[in-house]
Amino acid sequence: MPTVTRYLRANRLRFEKELCEYLRLPSISAQSNHKKDVCATADWLVRHCRGIGLRAKKHATGFHPIVTATTPKRAGKRPHYLIYGHYDVQPAEPLEEWASPPFEPTIRKGAVYARGATDNKGQHFAHLKAVEAYLQTGADLPCDLTFVIEGEEEVGSESLVTFLREKKRELKCEGIVVSDTGMPSKKHPALTYSLRGVTAMEVTVRGPKADLHSGIYGGSVDNPAMVLCQMLGALRNNNGRITVSGFYEGVEKLTAYERKQMKRLPINQAEYRKLVGVPELCGEKGYTHHEQRSARPTLEINGLTSGYQGEGSKTIVPAWASAKITCRLVPNQDPLRINRMLRKHLKKSCPSTVKLEIKDGHGAEAYYVSPTGPMAQVALEALHESFGHEPVLLREGGSIPIINEFKKVLGADSLLLGLALPDDNLHSPNEKFDLDCFHKGAQMSALLWDKLADI
Ligand code: BES
Ligand code: ZN
Repeated sequence: MPTVTRYLRANRLRFEKELCEYLRLPSISAQSNHKKDVCATADWLVRHCRGIGLRAKKHATGFHPIVTATTPKRAGKRPHYLIYGHYDVQPAEPLEEWASPPFEPTIRKGAVYARGATDNKGQHFAHLKAVEAYLQTGADLPCDLTFVIEGEEEVGSESLVTFLREKKRELKCEGIVVSDTGMPSKKHPALTYSLRGVTAMEVTVRGPKADLHSGIYGGSVDNPAMVLCQMLGALRNNNGRITVSGFYEGVEKLTAYERKQMKRLPINQAEYRKLVGVPELCGEKGYTHHEQRSARPTLEINGLTSGYQGEGSKTIVPAWASAKITCRLVPNQDPLRINRMLRKHLKKSCPSTVKLEIKDGHGAEAYYVSPTGPMAQVALEALHESFGHEPVLLREGGSIPIINEFKKVLGADSLLLGLALPDDNLHSPNEKFDLDCFHKGAQMSALLWDKLADI
């Protein structure tokens, strides 16, 4: 171990430079004009993995390639762990909000700023550097490791689902280590034991066959934007509860233990309000902001479009209005069932003056694993030793749909050891990754393999 730690310490600057090289590649999976960049990023990753001593391969799929990289196998039956990450990133818009361009990584105040810095290139790169330290110093790595790094996480991971089923045998493992979540602060390293699920849809309301003069026709022809706003507005009541009937069926109350854990979290309501920059917080009555954002289901409008959006005014009754909607789900909420209930509710509330179209999007169940198992225990030790602080147990509000597939197809649990800080701006302008988290994350990863091999 000391040789590995020494190697990690001695090579910090080079690691940061390499991470910047990786971050330069605009691997935006959602935008078709970046398809080549996504592919080139997979190539870069394969080259990099080979360079540090891994056996790496790019697997073509129907969409974006998957990269696997394995440690050279040794004789004997050793535990096998997967390390999952994603090399694709979210779109960088709105570009004018970035202090430095999203694909020109810049280091400021101990953090690297770039799209994908924390979500997720920096986080899985920390694990790659830990494994490099073992392979390059010849230190004894007591587990077989396989990195699975995909290019479609931000758009639904469809290819990886198929890939898992095809390679079920090769990917058989004791567990999956994932750093794609967060921690409340560097003094509160975290093990996440639950993620929310999701169900998505796009709702369009169509009125007149074309935009109409609102002075000539307005008042006699229903306004699709108005209709959609009224329908959507009625989905939430004054207590912050979703009004779709059956929405909360099966949702479990937080246990006293969980509520106590959440009370230990550092960011209070006032700090949280400041962090997100709102005049006042809202949310479901009877729950704290930590509970609302991680252990309660929600319904959000993610995008809303209708009518004229250009400069100045244009007096029309728009021909249509549409909204992108997602619900975040908690354990026991079936994404398909929720989707059906929401559809039914919208159909019922839509007046006959317009036509309603609903297109389904992706869906995933919530994830929950008990944080008391042996894998979790050694992970908490590794977090404690590398970050120098007592770790906390977290429920996170985001989703990583593939985690459920790992459980279903491979029968293995995931250890979610997130390295993102609350102000890392995931999916927002000025995304960053704290370099302390990067190096401590690599150290945490290095500590993990000995401990996992011992259980
Ligand atoms: N890394 C995030 C997920 C995340 C972030 C989980 C913070 C917990 C805390 C991941 O890249 C992501 O953004 N996932 C999407 C999935 C969606 C497209 C189905 C999400 O949560 O919106
Ligand atoms: Zn993301």
